[in-house]
Amino acid sequence: GRRPLARSLLPGRPCAAKAVKTDGDSMTSQAEFQDRLLSLGLARVSEAAAIASAALIGRGDEKAADQAAVNAMREQLNMLDIKGVVVIGEGERDEAPMLYIGEEVGTGNGPEVDIALDPLEGTTLTAKDMPNALTVIAMAPRGTLLHAPDVYMDKLAVGPGYPQGVISLDKSPSENVRAVAAAKGVEPGDIIVCVLDRPRHAELIAELRKLGCGVQLIPDGDVAGVIATTNEDTGIDIYMGSGGAPEGVLAAAALRCVGGQFNGRLLFRNDDERGRARKWGIEDLNKIYVLEELAKGDCIFAATGVTDGSLLDGVHRRKDGTMTTESVVMRASSGTVRWVKGEHRGGR
Ligand code: FBP
Repeated sequence: GRRPLARSLLPGRPCAAKAVKTDGDSMTSQAEFQDRLLSLGLARVSEAAAIASAALIGRGDEKAADQAAVNAMREQLNMLDIKGVVVIGEGERDEAPMLYIGEEVGTGNGPEVDIALDPLEGTTLTAKDMPNALTVIAMAPRGTLLHAPDVYMDKLAVGPGYPQGVISLDKSPSENVRAVAAAKGVEPGDIIVCVLDRPRHAELIAELRKLGCGVQLIPDGDVAGVIATTNEDTGIDIYMGSGGAPEGVLAAAALRCVGGQFNGRLLFRNDDERGRARKWGIEDLNKIYVLEELAKGDCIFAATGVTDGSLLDGVHRRKDGTMTTESVVMRASSGTVRWVKGEHRGGR
């Protein structure tokens, strides 16, 4: 069953908000106005991708589901009044014909922004009709999102309300669990950690189980896994383990809006991957990135459920053909989180 949505997670969030000057500062207020409009525009983009891929739920074809989401996301994105550049996308230009890194998107009339997207986060979840597949997009002022190469990233995240620095990738999993437990006023064995179910995490899982922690293993979808730490109703205290670096930047953008802490370290398996990172201007390959280094600007984040999940309901089709969607839209500058229910008649 689906857990109730934790809108309640928001009070107590450390305020990432920056005061927006409006008095006598027409440029700032205009930018703020644009930002507010664009946040709903982004929801439309993620909704369109979700509706398109929903037709392929349970059809066993990851590629087709992803392609449908990519096409719809690109079409909607190009209607937005932005001068956007994809910094986290479907891959490099020679491997991705659409929404590749560096692709210019939007009408060209509007603010210069970075776009990070994952048109279908959970291609396998969609193909197998399993929970928690999402469409995800984030937008931020130009130059403020990390250009992460498509390599793995070691990730560590907690939700809001903890002292700054409570977690660190410099510490062992046990040390991190103990620190979070102490800050929460519980025993390490009371802590629940979300981890991607992968053979590479066997040691990590064994270490956590030795401490007596609850380990929630997810088959895919670590953006939702990280966001789950900000949602008290999920019971998840910490997210740990490696997954895609692009997904790390997207998760960081979401946490910038609702609060929480994130550490990410790129993991390289070979020189080709190291070369990719250097190409994007990353010099220190062992660096631990904190939230503000992954997403430093006033970003906007939108996600729409494809299949039902702990964060969002998926796309459903009513008898009369109306498609229903649920999205979440967050803005770092105001800290606002909107849960947007859509009813799309005529299939859109
Ligand atoms: P896809 O939607 O691209 O299939 O990604 C799903 C995902 O589970 C991500 O959430 C995660 O970051 C990554 O795959 C983990 O990679 P791997 O499956 O190689 O462990």
